[in-house]
Amino acid sequence: MKTLAIIGSQWGDEGKGKITDLLSEKCDYVVRYQGGNNAGHTIIVDGKKIVLHLIPSGILHPHCVSVIAHGVVFEPEAFQHELNRVMDSGITITSENLKISENLTIITSYNKILDAARENQGSVKIGTTGKGIGPAYEDKIGRRAVKLKDLFDYDILKKKLSRNLGEKEILFKHRYAVSFPTIEEEAERLFELGKKIKPFVCDTFSVLDKAIQNGSKILYEGAQGILLDIDYGTYPYVTSSSTSLGGIYTGAGIPESHVEEVLGITKAYTTRVGEGPFPTELFNELGVEIQTKGNEFGATTGRKRRCGWLDLPLLKYSVKASNLTSIALTKLDILSGLKELKVCVAYEYEGQRIDCAYPGIDLTKAKPILKNMPAFNDLFQGEPLSSELEDYIKEIELFLNIPVGIIAFGPERKEIIFRKDYFGIIKR
Ligand code: GDP
Ligand code: IMO
Ligand code: MG
Repeated sequence: MKTLAIIGSQWGDEGKGKITDLLSEKCDYVVRYQGGNNAGHTIIVDGKKIVLHLIPSGILHPHCVSVIAHGVVFEPEAFQHELNRVMDSGITITSENLKISENLTIITSYNKILDAARENQGSVKIGTTGKGIGPAYEDKIGRRAVKLKDLFDYDILKKKLSRNLGEKEILFKHRYAVSFPTIEEEAERLFELGKKIKPFVCDTFSVLDKAIQNGSKILYEGAQGILLDIDYGTYPYVTSSSTSLGGIYTGAGIPESHVEEVLGITKAYTTRVGEGPFPTELFNELGVEIQTKGNEFGATTGRKRRCGWLDLPLLKYSVKASNLTSIALTKLDILSGLKELKVCVAYEYEGQRIDCAYPGIDLTKAKPILKNMPAFNDLFQGEPLSSELEDYIKEIELFLNIPVGIIAFGPERKEIIFRKDYFGIIKR
């Protein structure tokens, strides 16, 4: 296997950072291809925590080249802070092991101001991360975005910013009554940031093209999850990028090389941050117990994550929407020891029983049909998995018709079992 995609199969925060970090050990390149610093990918090594928002989760392995490809929306100031923070923690980052696409879209101050204004004063609250993601992708699709390479020429930058601000100024002044920097202030700020970022900037399309020609091992690290995809997700409560498999082909520029394996990172229960429907959400004490025990707080905004049972109809849909070939099941330790355990196996929907969610279904009307599962009490200290836990895993495999290739039972690197081979890694 030469290429593998890591894709969140739920509403994000499934543990993509942890799994990417582990698999990067055997990879040559790790590529972020969509989203921006709305992502928060946590890696814990010997008790030390590193949260990555823009930098790919392969960065802890010095041999592995991290690539931020053109499909990402990029906030230069946030990147600069992240770079300093990660380097301060002892990780070496140079232009050799981090490459950023000159063609990616910049998140400007105007994008962030618009995101916040809409969330605070708009008619529909999405519960965004407030990082300016949606407005930046709007500018990109609207053909008025500032690209990273524009930061290196002050005059071009100013021209692009004035085009960009044209319509927004009217909204800022007359619709939302919010203050905003002048074009000169914004141009100065971005121009200065551009100088610092320049050493990492290159044509990542060619970097990846060469890597593919040379037969390098490439891991594509998705951000968010399939149910937050702009097309496949629970619209409008989604993010503004293609979080599913298709995003790799447009966001990293590798149309000639297909992705061989698609590993769907799946939390053993379900969580969601922000607004939007959530059929298996628990509003009782058990929901609070899972939230507390699982430490379910957003890695980017610190918001409490909503918690509920594993939703198999949604997962069946995710498998189809992203051609998932196997599952990494994370956070099993959080379910271990619970007095009751349930899993959603179907919905009652408009008088019918359906076992696969599909786009267009009104999830607020889907009544989950829950199956009681035998609770498990595994300690994960080297003993074989209990038959109850094996049953839980089997239930998922039979329902989805793909294998659970990895199980994770703690945030540390060693708290994992590989049941399937990925890039030659088989270890406890
Ligand atoms: P990502 O956005 O998909 O990378 O996930 P986040 O980092 O936002 O959230 C996952 C959280 O769960 C992080 O705090 C991880 O350290 C933690 N984590 C990952 N796998 C496991 C696991 O198997 N058990 C436990 N208890 N925590 C885990
Ligand atoms: P990772 O990569 C969980 C959610 C937000 C909000 C919606 C839109 O860590 O899994 P946006 O700021 O993107 O316009 O917000 O998407 N969201 C995430 N939820 N994990 C993430 O990333 C998320 N990135 C965005 O909470 O509901
Ligand atoms: Mg996260």
